[in-house]
Amino acid sequence: MQLMLKKCTIRPWRLDDADSLARQANNRKVWLAVRDRFPHPYTIPDAHEFLQRAVTGQPVMKFCIETEAAGGGIGVHPGEDVYRHTATVGYWLGEEFWGRGVMTEAVTAVTNFCFENFPLRRISAEVFANNRASARVLEKAGFTFEARLKDNVIKAGELLDSLLYARTK
Ligand SMILES: CC(C)(COP(=O)(O)OP(=O)(O)OC[C@H]1O[C@@H](n2cnc3c(N)ncnc32)[C@H](O)[C@@H]1OP(=O)(O)O)[C@@H](O)C(=O)NCCC(=O)NCCS
Repeated sequence: MQLMLKKCTIRPWRLDDADSLARQANNRKVWLAVRDRFPHPYTIPDAHEFLQRAVTGQPVMKFCIETEAAGGGIGVHPGEDVYRHTATVGYWLGEEFWGRGVMTEAVTAVTNFCFENFPLRRISAEVFANNRASARVLEKAGFTFEARLKDNVIKAGELLDSLLYARTK
């Protein structure tokens, strides 16, 4: 998949994205909004390890968001069994590219692409309740707020609610 958009290109990760990936991902503000399996600090070896997995994964469901260089990532995770018609989406962007509408464009395009090309009926995303910018991205990308999951997350020692958003076909 390659999506050439106005503000960014969504494309498969490449092994030579390591330097740019580590530079953008090595940011506590990014880490605070994502799962703990996202390393912090984020080193070049962490980037190599991620890229090895990303380029060999079949089907390729983890994508690079390219602005001037590899600027962030977006991944689609298909459900299984009775959830096989669903997927979840996760994403992050390097801080220097925030606030330009890049992620709104990326999430909209990737979810449109997934609905058009896979037999999916539902794509959901979960946002920590303190992340207004990400909730806003989902709203602008056509997702509906479904639920506040109380005390669902522990991040950086803090117990947080999370917000469940979904787009259905
Ligand atoms: C959240 C994130 C993806 C947003 O990406 P982005 O490209 O800056 O988002 P956009 O520019 O498309 O849209 C951001 C929207 O949030 C709004 N926003 C930003 N900060 C906000 C805040 N503190 N409170 C409320 N709204 C906020 C912006 O104004 C904009 O909405 P608008 O167009 O209506 O004005 C990016 O900041 C990021 O990667 N953060 C760290 C990782 C992360 O949060 N990942 C998502 C985990 S669920």
